[in-house]
Amino acid sequence: MSDLTTRVDPLLPIRPADQPAGLAALVAAVRARTSIVPEVGIVLGSGLGGLADDLADPVAIPFGELPGWPAATAPGHAGRLLLGKLGGRPVVMLQGRFHLYEGNDPGLVVQPVLLFHALGARVVVLTNAAGGLDPSFGPGTLMVMRDHINLTGRSPLMGPNADELGPRFPDMTHAWSPRLRERLHAAGVSEGVTLAEGVYVGLTGPTYETPAEVRMLAGLGGHAVGMSTVLECIAARWVGLEVCGVSLVTNAGAGYSGMPLTHEEVLEAGLEAGPRLAKVIRRFVTDLGAP
Ligand code: HPA
Repeated sequence: MSDLTTRVDPLLPIRPADQPAGLAALVAAVRARTSIVPEVGIVLGSGLGGLADDLADPVAIPFGELPGWPAATAPGHAGRLLLGKLGGRPVVMLQGRFHLYEGNDPGLVVQPVLLFHALGARVVVLTNAAGGLDPSFGPGTLMVMRDHINLTGRSPLMGPNADELGPRFPDMTHAWSPRLRERLHAAGVSEGVTLAEGVYVGLTGPTYETPAEVRMLAGLGGHAVGMSTVLECIAARWVGLEVCGVSLVTNAGAGYSGMPLTHEEVLEAGLEAGPRLAKVIRRFVTDLGAP
């Protein structure tokens, strides 16, 4: 049960050193409803919520019923934490997420992946909708993230550190796990789904990029651009989660087609390609225990 009197303002800074207390309250709220210990945590981005329908014996908790979590506001984001079984394995899913562009503090943006870890997960799968920077990545391209570039200007780890959660200076050399990337590609092959691979660039939004920014980001080495994911990866690595993920390219980057970008086309491409990505992730989770 959430306690309105102890709810934190979502705009107030949550420093790394504040996370242990926040997580303890969140774990208690989840444990009041289910004893499932997830192996894998999955963040479902825009248009990818359909994977939640595949959960067996689901327990669904709306964000607004968890201590310190505001109800999700972004269109296309349901805003629920779900625990259940996917492909026979216990998982926790975030249907929707907290974005910087909503005004959320970076510490809140990453609390869900920290909660995955606190509940027992050791692997996290991050998904998002993104614009294509690589000119060959048209709408519907699924891109395994090989690395990222954090251009949000923010970090969830600034401020006094919580040494019990993770180190002051986390290494990011293999932030996007080579082992899990291989597993994603293998799942794609098993399901007959083509997966590209590339570097995700994270910005704050909420505007889409200008054509000049798209050219710059492509020149910096980016292959897809979006408004999420990079802070979650940073926090996940901080606590030692093994991270992988897939971008669903919903549109060519601004300026490539000459047409304005709309949130509707982003959601539409998500509806088309979401089921393909869902198949890959289900297979990935199912096969995770195999050698
Ligand atoms: N830019 C940023 N974020 C996005 C885009 C884009 O073109 N498409 C979907 N999310």
